[in-house]
Amino acid sequence: MPRLLMINSSGRHTRSVTRSLTRQFAERWLAAHPAGELTERDVTLQPPTVVNEAWIASAFAPPQDRSPVAQAVLSESELLLTEIEEADALVLGVPMYNFGLPSQLKAYFDQIIRVNRSFGFDPQAPNPYQPLLTDKPVTIIVSVGDGDLLPGGPLSQLNFLEPHLTTMLNFIGLNSIEFVRVGYEEFQDGRLKRALKSAEQAIAQRAAA
Ligand SMILES: Cc1cc2nc3c(=O)[nH]c(=O)nc-3n(C[C@H](O)[C@H](O)[C@H](O)COP(=O)(O)O)c2cc1C
Repeated sequence: MPRLLMINSSGRHTRSVTRSLTRQFAERWLAAHPAGELTERDVTLQPPTVVNEAWIASAFAPPQDRSPVAQAVLSESELLLTEIEEADALVLGVPMYNFGLPSQLKAYFDQIIRVNRSFGFDPQAPNPYQPLLTDKPVTIIVSVGDGDLLPGGPLSQLNFLEPHLTTMLNFIGLNSIEFVRVGYEEFQDGRLKRALKSAEQAIAQRAAA
């Protein structure tokens, strides 16, 4: 049974561009995959735990040396990674906050980027880092207040969101990424209307693929 994992990270639950578009994506994806199932992960309603001393010690300990307590510390990371592994496709809703990603989504990535679980590390190897997850389609729906920050725009050098997301996903093996972008949410003018229209078209195509 095909499965879509939908990850939302906007701080708002009303008026959110990204939440409305991830929902549209999920509806279209389910229409195109009638036997499909949806897993929803909301990192704002349920913020992932920030990594701490115990998490780091457990993550870097060899699995056979992990105490039951150390295993319990990693259970959240394990659950989030299993959700990704069980999915056939991912859709992420990501607002730009202060030129980067929302902190609750960064906490999510800190939980899922884990040595010997989602990436391998061998300091002796010519390429010390090996991604360990299987690639699958990842659609990232981004909304920004000022569309000049989007690729090709006059402020695009200040967009740390997209390179950061791409780097983290590629690092663990998720390479088939497509961005759907909405600009000018804070300007509320014709540019926003046009951006929403083209985002909806891109979503319809990508969700049915
Ligand atoms: C805390 C915060 C920080 C923001 N930082 C930026 C920013 O750096 N650049 C920008 O263009 N818009 C910024 N915005 C605007 C959001 O990116 C924009 O409103 C977007 O549509 C939010 O996504 P949402 O509609 O899904 O909630 C910020 C909004 C908030 C709430």
